[in-house]
Amino acid sequence: MGFGMGLNLLLLLAMVATNILSLYHLTSSLQNKQPQQLQPQIPDHLHNQLQTIRSTITHLTHLRSTPTTSNNPTTSIPSDLLLYSHFSPIASSCRNHPQLLHTYMNYTPYTICPLDTDLAEALILRGCHPLPRRRCFSQTPSKLPSTLPTHPFPTSLPDTSIIWSYTCTHFECLEKKNLGFDMKVESTKFTTFKSDLDLPVQQLFQIAKESRNVIRLGLDVGAGTGTFAAIMKLYNVTVMSTTMNLGAPYNEVIALRGLVPLHVPLQQRFPIFDGVLDLVRCSHAVNRWIPVKAMEFLFYDVDRVLRGGGYFWLDHFFSKGVDLDKVYTPLIGKLGYKKIKWATGIKSDSSGGKNGEVYLTALLQKPAVK
Ligand SMILES: *[C@@H]1O[C@H](CO)[C@@H](O)[C@H](O)[C@H]1NC(C)=O
Repeated sequence: MGFGMGLNLLLLLAMVATNILSLYHLTSSLQNKQPQQLQPQIPDHLHNQLQTIRSTITHLTHLRSTPTTSNNPTTSIPSDLLLYSHFSPIASSCRNHPQLLHTYMNYTPYTICPLDTDLAEALILRGCHPLPRRRCFSQTPSKLPSTLPTHPFPTSLPDTSIIWSYTCTHFECLEKKNLGFDMKVESTKFTTFKSDLDLPVQQLFQIAKESRNVIRLGLDVGAGTGTFAAIMKLYNVTVMSTTMNLGAPYNEVIALRGLVPLHVPLQQRFPIFDGVLDLVRCSHAVNRWIPVKAMEFLFYDVDRVLRGGGYFWLDHFFSKGVDLDKVYTPLIGKLGYKKIKWATGIKSDSSGGKNGEVYLTALLQKPAVK
């Protein structure tokens, strides 16, 4: 009942929206006084919106004409999802993955949520982010850990604070995998200078001090288990860490270390206001595997959140040698930043050798005025 009415309302709204859009683009065309060129003048964004609305209508009409067998969950759209499609900013690409979204929104309200982090990650990586909200209780570990670490490099991480829906079911297993979970190994990072590609944090602070600059607030993109934020915390600097949970509890561990985990994929606009950060570091998760156009948008988003005088640190960025000269150096150059450090080196592991890859570590400074 409620579902049918909701559907009717949605159809009505969609039609009203179509009419308003048509009116808008008709008037803007009329203002241009070239009615004979109406077709090519439709701006792309309007065209896309119209397309979206049209396909939504088709989709909904189709749903209405197929008899709703309410005992089959996959043929009916959960009503709270319809609600969200109206006034919540769920990404438009959610629409392209109806099966995944259906599964995600198929839960019993007011009870415990299904354990479906994999599904959420799959949707987020396909651009369906932010995810719609749900009215269920997310699962928590059944036992409270007896103690929680207060130091960002704890001697051990409590197994009981994680819901182990991963291949590993305890931290000892993860520690052996060289993924950033061994705190002894982590505590040696960012403090030593083994090659020109390294930028120990002491040196970073020295650079800032010498130019009478200050580093208080930063963002680490592709942060893994948050070790950069951890070392910065020891210097009283707040660093937020973006990370996904691909196969391991990265977000949980960042939080366990008392740091700020941001569960956002690389393609998402940073949930941070313009011109407020002193530092953005990109880990080697930012590399040649990201399509160049997407990388360009990422760099400009870094620029957006940095304040004048702020630092952009590309840490062990890797690409093919030829592309570094032909593609990435010009791309970075377009930002117009001051090069404080620019070091390149051969990536000597097996994949690096096979593909002629090189590393770049660069510290760049955003000019105060453009
Ligand atoms: C960080 O802050 C604490 C408390 O204010 C202070 O004792 C400590 O010296 C500071 N550490 C650094 C590296 O500045």
